[in-house]
Amino acid sequence: MLSFDQVPPLAAPLRFFVTAPLFIALAGLLAVIDGPAILASRWTPAALAATHLLTVGFMAQVMLGALLQMLPVVVGVVVPRPRLTAALIHIPLTLGALALAAAFLNGNPIWFQGALGLLGLGFGAALIAVHLALWRAPVVSGTVIALRCALGALMVTVGLGLSLGGFFGWGFTLPVVVVTHLHTAWGLVGWTTLLVAGVAYQVVPMFQITPPYPSAFVRGFAPLMAVLLAAWSALAFGGWEMAARLTGAVLALGVALFAVTTLRLLTQRRRKIGDPTLACWRTSMASLLTGALLWLLTPWSQTLARAPQVEWLLGILPIFGFAVAVINGMLYKIVPFLAWFHLQAQLLGRAKVPTMKQLLPDAAIRRQFWVYLAALLLLLAAAVHPPVFTYPAALALGGTGVWLGVNLMGVWWIYRRVLQDGLAVAPVTDNEVMRG
Ligand code: HEM
Repeated sequence: MLSFDQVPPLAAPLRFFVTAPLFIALAGLLAVIDGPAILASRWTPAALAATHLLTVGFMAQVMLGALLQMLPVVVGVVVPRPRLTAALIHIPLTLGALALAAAFLNGNPIWFQGALGLLGLGFGAALIAVHLALWRAPVVSGTVIALRCALGALMVTVGLGLSLGGFFGWGFTLPVVVVTHLHTAWGLVGWTTLLVAGVAYQVVPMFQITPPYPSAFVRGFAPLMAVLLAAWSALAFGGWEMAARLTGAVLALGVALFAVTTLRLLTQRRRKIGDPTLACWRTSMASLLTGALLWLLTPWSQTLARAPQVEWLLGILPIFGFAVAVINGMLYKIVPFLAWFHLQAQLLGRAKVPTMKQLLPDAAIRRQFWVYLAALLLLLAAAVHPPVFTYPAALALGGTGVWLGVNLMGVWWIYRRVLQDGLAVAPVTDNEVMRG
């Protein structure tokens, strides 16, 4: 049972959750301004800026905020000074993501230097706080193992990202193309997929009422993927092309296996009433599976390898299709639950606390999800035929980000109102007011 003293104050994780959707909206705005030119190549400044608005501004921001929130519950370790720790991560990460996007757009080394300083600080603080907690975990469950692997992968991703940034900011000499491939794989396969897997082991059976993941999978998947990633990196870096290609194929199969296992569990739901976040999980896993199969086939087919559209599909499917969908769905579970939990703990016996569905109605979740889905399909269409689909895709992308933000801010707004009204009814101690 979750105890109120164990969980960080609501403001600590919430600051990450309410700012993150703005970054999806910014990516949409950037695509509207740049138009079809943004899709000319994955290396265009606007494409790299949009990639990091999503991967750092949205994904990393929510994933780290959620980790700070989850650690006491899942791992049983309290992060010290939660408000201060959250601020030390959130402020530099937010400013750093904006500065990195600006640096890609204007190409000025000073902006890269500023962005690297901020991101180094934000990710550094996060890695220290979360690592300390994870290595002190009293019970080493499958989730803890996966989170440790994901955190290790984040460290590699950030290290490689900072070196790449150093290339633009200070003129470091490094093999940019191969380092970018490694940075991308550690970011999307290591950090993102392994973190989602670690969280899925807990939340898919709990929220979607499915059987548990097979226990061998829970303990073995993440470490195996981390070892394969390390082997693949060494082979790619050393120029052993065929061995790297084969290891890459095994990695892609591993990712596909996680997606298939999750999709299979979702078909075995014991609850027959629909859950609006189920569609997020299904879309996310279908995108992951499609992306993994495309990644598996591309190196072996000249036609796929030469098609510029495939590069885009290999970015859109894992980033927007897989990661953004599952994070979007998780936010809808986490934010209303946290608001309800904090209200319950502070107002118990004094005022009536709204239910989670009153804090965030299913209809609001469903409507935003339709816009998300439209954005995904339009982005995939834009990758294949940019002149027709880029503007509608950009507008839908901006729209889904704004709508997600509005839905989450709505929960925060009701929370504040109910808390103020409830506390006005009966006197409380200073300590209780502070925790709100
Ligand atoms: C400290 C944080 C980070 C920095 C400084 C950074 C920097 C960079 C740079 C400079 C590039 C472009 C390389 C080039 O043009 O050759 C790049 C590419 C990329 N980064 Fe990051 N990155 C960071 C974090 C992340 C994270 C957390 C992810 C998460 C998944 C990520 C995903 C990507 C992807 C997918 C690309 C390839 C984009 C493409 O090929 O179009 N980055 N990064």
